[in-house]
Amino acid sequence: MARKFFIGGNWKCNGTLEEVKKIVSMLNEAEIPSENVVEVFVSPPFVFLPLVESLLRPDFQVAAQNCWVRKGGAFTGEISAEMLVNLGIPCVILGHSERRSLLNESDEFVGDKVAYALSVGLKVIACIGETLQQRESGSTMAVVAAQTKAIAEKVSNWANVVLAYEPVWAIGTGKVATPGQAQEVHLELRKWLHDSVGAEVAATTRIIYGGSVNGANCRELAAQPDIDGFLVGGASLKPEFADIIRSLTVMKSQL
Ligand code: PGA
Repeated sequence: MARKFFIGGNWKCNGTLEEVKKIVSMLNEAEIPSENVVEVFVSPPFVFLPLVESLLRPDFQVAAQNCWVRKGGAFTGEISAEMLVNLGIPCVILGHSERRSLLNESDEFVGDKVAYALSVGLKVIACIGETLQQRESGSTMAVVAAQTKAIAEKVSNWANVVLAYEPVWAIGTGKVATPGQAQEVHLELRKWLHDSVGAEVAATTRIIYGGSVNGANCRELAAQPDIDGFLVGGASLKPEFADIIRSLTVMKSQL
């Protein structure tokens, strides 16, 4: 079964009400291929989720950037997975490296979050990736395998999981992984899924790449056989996000 391309825009902690409305109008006017060809979601900060959900074109989905690890309750400042479901938000990004590093989210904690979000019916974009130091010491695969294993230990159904491989050294740095570097890790991850989870999960799970993707570098990355889409940060706030969605499809349909 073909893996449908999956493009996510991670707005991170950016935007005013006016800016958010502008980005949404820009996206609503963009000419992009049909949702049968590419699945697109954007992930605004929590406070803008209902607004974006109500204004955004129906062929795009909205995702939260995080949610609480278990059922809501006395957890000041947190947003529960149930609340997202209640608001009609279908999807959540979990385990982003900024949360792993700045907020000390461990592999196990991320695994628990992924399992809980799936259990209430959310789709999950689960992020993994190595630091520069880990890459330079040759432990890239060990790191991403351990991060994926912590998820695999808690999750039995992978149908609603998209894995986002995002090397930390490429995030927000302008230093994108080469297509070869990205493909190598995606292929190894797929092999890991094959050996540790199963052949079907390995064949069907989308593994998307994130880290300084832009309108200029996306085509070559998209042409790699194991790159099934992108998680885009900075460029998702700009008109070139539409180019990224379009370029990807053009490339793949030519293969
Ligand atoms: P970037 O961010 O595209 O700005 O590097 C990617 C991400 O953090 O998801």
